[in-house]
Amino acid sequence: MSGQSRQSLEKYKIISERANRLSPSGIRKFFDLLANMEGVISLGVGEPDYATPWHISEAAVKSLERGYTMYTSNSGIPELRELTAKYLKEKYDIDYNPYGEILMTVGVSEALDLAMRAIVNPGDEVIMTDPHYVAYDACVILAEGKPVMVPTSQKNSFEVEAKDIEAHITKKTRAILIGYPANPTGAVMGKQKLLDIAEVAKRHHLTVISDEIYARLTYGVEHTCFASLPGVRENTILLGGFSKAYAMTGWRIGYAVAPKEIIAAMTKIHQYTIMSAPTPAQVAAIEALKTGEPDVVEMVEDYNRRRLVIVKGLNDIGLPCFEPKGAFYAFPSITCTGMTSEEFSEKLLMEEKVAVVPGSAFGQCGEGYVRCCYATSLADIEEALTRMKRFVKKYKK
Ligand SMILES: Cc1ncc(COP(=O)(O)O)c(C=O)c1O
Repeated sequence: MSGQSRQSLEKYKIISERANRLSPSGIRKFFDLLANMEGVISLGVGEPDYATPWHISEAAVKSLERGYTMYTSNSGIPELRELTAKYLKEKYDIDYNPYGEILMTVGVSEALDLAMRAIVNPGDEVIMTDPHYVAYDACVILAEGKPVMVPTSQKNSFEVEAKDIEAHITKKTRAILIGYPANPTGAVMGKQKLLDIAEVAKRHHLTVISDEIYARLTYGVEHTCFASLPGVRENTILLGGFSKAYAMTGWRIGYAVAPKEIIAAMTKIHQYTIMSAPTPAQVAAIEALKTGEPDVVEMVEDYNRRRLVIVKGLNDIGLPCFEPKGAFYAFPSITCTGMTSEEFSEKLLMEEKVAVVPGSAFGQCGEGYVRCCYATSLADIEEALTRMKRFVKKYKK
């Protein structure tokens, strides 16, 4: 930014305090660097390397050909809400009414923002883990709330303990935000630990927002849906989506599920800011729920093969990596190099053309780690490991 435009921004206070409170995403910076480089292997972006299965895309294409291009109901196409309710019933045995308790959104991103704006008052505290997905604290700040971090560590496989959450509860605490399987660590939470969190939430009358966008991406363990636990229905907002499981990141479609008073409040904000989730994306999501299951199974098997290769490879080259049981991220420690995670990521990119994301982008407890997304080809993973081995050999202390 030129000196003059910075001055006029300051003089006229053009940018709101709310926006100023947000720090730029630590991930974006790396992608800007990467954009001008050739021959880079990216373990950076958190999205599937698959294109959306064609039959899913085709359903949307055909709907466009038929002229199906208008707004939908604010809540989303009734058939999609009904299929989502059916899916949740079949998968987790939970009952939500598609007419009032399910809202289709522009990805989990929008659902997260709506949830915060619907339940957080200025100054309210929202408890979350450190490290955490980059949008979690940002959405709380935008809702004028205060994010409160509960440290997690590799020692506990990056799972959060209910007692640690409870230790951070104050008079101002409004909600607990959890996201398992987790970005950036790949951690999953067992049922008992989630039950313990449910107990704490009930005891303190807190809402739990459970971001389960990676629910379908687990390896050798069953995902427990937080909303399926006994007695939590009234104080849970479940967020889910299509981006990761069906390789549909660009379609921008997700959902929020909660008791009707909460969904009604979220829908009010959604109707004034978004109107309705993209119509072709909703049509594609209908197809995904009807016929996409074999695709999910096939992609998850493939991610699992890649997961095993990358986790073993990282450990072999001297970057200790706990076994992630979900999502598509490995989160190795890089402390043996003596570098910060940002130095490591920048040097690795410049010297070996491998892009990873510094753990510090996800919170203070991410320092000393880097996030490696393995939703990329096995050939690329193997080449990246070769380059990283050379790099670690050079800098290992
Ligand atoms: C944990 C987590 N939640 C939410 C999102 C946003 O997903 P969507 O594409 O549905 O907006 C992401 C995307 O990376 C994520 O990792």
